Amino acid sequence: MYLTREEERALAGEFGHGKQKAMEILAALGDIYGAEKLIPIESAQISGVSYKTIGDAGLEYLMDQTGSVAVPTLLNPMGMDRFRWSELGIDKHFFEKQMAIVAQYGMLGIDAQCTCTPYYITSPQRGTHVSWSESSAVSYANSVLGAWTNREGGPSALASALIGKTPNYGYHLRENRISDVSVKIDFRLSGADYGALGYVIGKVVKSKVPAFSFTSKPTNDELKALAAGMAATGSVALFCLEGARAHQETIELVPAEVDLYSSGEPDVVVLGCPHCSRLELAEIARLLRGRIVTKPLWICTSRHIASRSVSLITQIEKTGARVICDTCMIVSPAFENRCMMVNSGKAFEYGPSLCKSETIIATTETCIDTACTIH
Ligand code: F3S
Repeated sequence: MYLTREEERALAGEFGHGKQKAMEILAALGDIYGAEKLIPIESAQISGVSYKTIGDAGLEYLMDQTGSVAVPTLLNPMGMDRFRWSELGIDKHFFEKQMAIVAQYGMLGIDAQCTCTPYYITSPQRGTHVSWSESSAVSYANSVLGAWTNREGGPSALASALIGKTPNYGYHLRENRISDVSVKIDFRLSGADYGALGYVIGKVVKSKVPAFSFTSKPTNDELKALAAGMAATGSVALFCLEGARAHQETIELVPAEVDLYSSGEPDVVVLGCPHCSRLELAEIARLLRGRIVTKPLWICTSRHIASRSVSLITQIEKTGARVICDTCMIVSPAFENRCMMVNSGKAFEYGPSLCKSETIIATTETCIDTACTIH
């Protein structure tokens, strides 16, 4: 890969150890994937934040990083709500390790907002390049926001953040941003159905680029759920909507194929995968109005959305439900080894493997009804 004079100086260590290491990662990636050069990015988003997932080895890796990020950079969810960790049953040891991780990212100049919906904080401009690593956010950025990003790993997103550039390959190139399989949905879907659809389609298309035709236009929250489901069971990082081209391969589903729902007696109900938007919090508040929660009901959102939704959260918490920030049901140890009900295709996929939790998927309405059932 071609490097400018400045980039070569970074690789030679003239701008410090941190930038040198970062440039080594980017140059290696560029060579592996055949990138011609590095291109500037507008922002970065870094996964690998929860102490549950990165452990002491990850913390050590971060302690070795130096320098300061060159572009606005946010973090993926960590393993706990930074203020309500004891309510979640998180122990002091985990709390301290987790805060050490966040502090280390802070030393690198990274904004310690931990969310998988960074686009609610700052949405990238259409056509700009970013280096994001949360898989649902990557797919949402490419497909809904029109930003261009590969599905980065935590270390490569961090390297891009430190240099402010990424190798120009994959979804940074126009010729790769085209669909290769049609998905026809001839029946009505709403809300959580899109997460279930994503779960089903991701398994079939794997890393292809599906082009959807729907009977009615999905909302952005529904597209967020679709993106998350497909990114979890497949590795879909881009999908298309209107103007889909005809493809040789067409997938047509019938309603029963996306009906993954079941009822049941979970130990806990958890919503907000990906993190809730303000509209989703409003919908949850509406469904909870006048009711009392009889089973633990946790709702995950970003601190940014929470700070703009104070009265909605007050209404929700009056019922006994709890709104938590910075974390989620999958990256926090708080929900492990319990039977969990979710309204998300992504959490349905990862609950059993990453939390050892029996996981039930249901509509948001059923989740709320289940949390409010009188026994
Ligand atoms: Fe976000 Fe956690 Fe789901 S990071 S997309 S809420 S698994």
